[in-house]
Amino acid sequence: MPGMELFGDEERKEVMDVLKTGALFRYGHEHVRKGMWKAKEFEAEVCRYTGAKYAHAVTSGSTAVAAMMAASGIGYGDEVIVPPFTFVAPIEGVFLGGAIPVFGEIDETFCLSAEGIENAVSPKTKAVLLVHMCGAAADIDGILNVCKKHNLVLMEDCGQAMGAFYKGKSVGLYGMAGSFSFDYFKIATCGEGGVCITDSQEIYNKMDQVSDHGHTHIGDNRGMEAHEFMGFNYRISELGAAIGLAQMRKVPQMVADNKKNKKYLKERLKEIDGLTFRCLPDEEGDSATFLNFMFPTRKLTEKAFSQFSKDGVGGVAYWYTNMYHFINQWDHIKNVSYPSRLAIHDLGCSQDYKTMELPKSQDVMARMASIGIRCTWTEDELEQFGDRLAHSIKKVL
Ligand SMILES: Cc1ncc(COP(=O)(O)O)c(C=O)c1O
Repeated sequence: MPGMELFGDEERKEVMDVLKTGALFRYGHEHVRKGMWKAKEFEAEVCRYTGAKYAHAVTSGSTAVAAMMAASGIGYGDEVIVPPFTFVAPIEGVFLGGAIPVFGEIDETFCLSAEGIENAVSPKTKAVLLVHMCGAAADIDGILNVCKKHNLVLMEDCGQAMGAFYKGKSVGLYGMAGSFSFDYFKIATCGEGGVCITDSQEIYNKMDQVSDHGHTHIGDNRGMEAHEFMGFNYRISELGAAIGLAQMRKVPQMVADNKKNKKYLKERLKEIDGLTFRCLPDEEGDSATFLNFMFPTRKLTEKAFSQFSKDGVGGVAYWYTNMYHFINQWDHIKNVSYPSRLAIHDLGCSQDYKTMELPKSQDVMARMASIGIRCTWTEDELEQFGDRLAHSIKKVL
């Protein structure tokens, strides 16, 4: 992923700024920090790039989801529609927020579809937690229509989608708020970190306060600040924020390089009869971190992956069997295994996780292969990879 590919002197300089002062905490301590506020600068850079009015940096993409959930006011017993293809964090975030996740179908966008959401709505549904998977936006217009029809709050988990836009506007700004991950495997990284964005001052204040035990951050006497409500500690350190700041400045170039490399590979694969590509509701706005394509059948997909192993073609992922990203591997979630009692145990769910069927999601996921695009590929490396990949696929199709 670009973040770790491009870690360098710019990040080291920002971190050294912090180490020279020793001001590791994001609030207060003006007397030591020499005017440096890395978390604030990082947030300003995220606002500048995404166009958000407000951004709040936290410790991870997972805690960004938790802060967003808390700010939504959706909780005990409310149902939130989530996709079966995602990293598990948003689903855990719904449970930990006291609400109950209900799985809707994805389609060839590899995100929740408007139809999938419509079919998952129950009288208890209060929100949709849309996940923009693999660096590109879902069908936002269609999804906004369903949300409007059923009066549902839209939250956007953009954990994998920094740099993704839809109709010229960043993902994360279509709903109430959006969350981004800056862990080590993302387009921009802090090592560990996350950011929530929103255009609503009210929601921003809640996400800011809930990330710091409810502190209002008004005035300069931390010990005397009022608390309007409880929160927890999701505070990012100045060190992580310093890295995130340097990385954010690189995002436009990373996206441009990704797009060039992805375009080349897609053109190579287009030559092969039988392959189809992920449906991108806004191809222009794709951050191009992944190239996702589909084989005609599951059998051929499995055959292709064993061919890749035989031919030594690395870097192609089969998310369908991956332990973290698809519902088939989530027995711990389907069994609602958690060390303590959750709302679902008392209140039930309109969906039975053990018997639910998601045929559309199963079909598209079983046929999908995914290439992580590298922004640092040289022309030679890209050409060689494209040759080996295309050659291997042609043996199967
Ligand atoms: C879609 C999505 N949401 C949330 C997260 C959680 O982010 P983090 O690892 O920073 O907690 C991830 C991480 O992979 C993710 O892919």
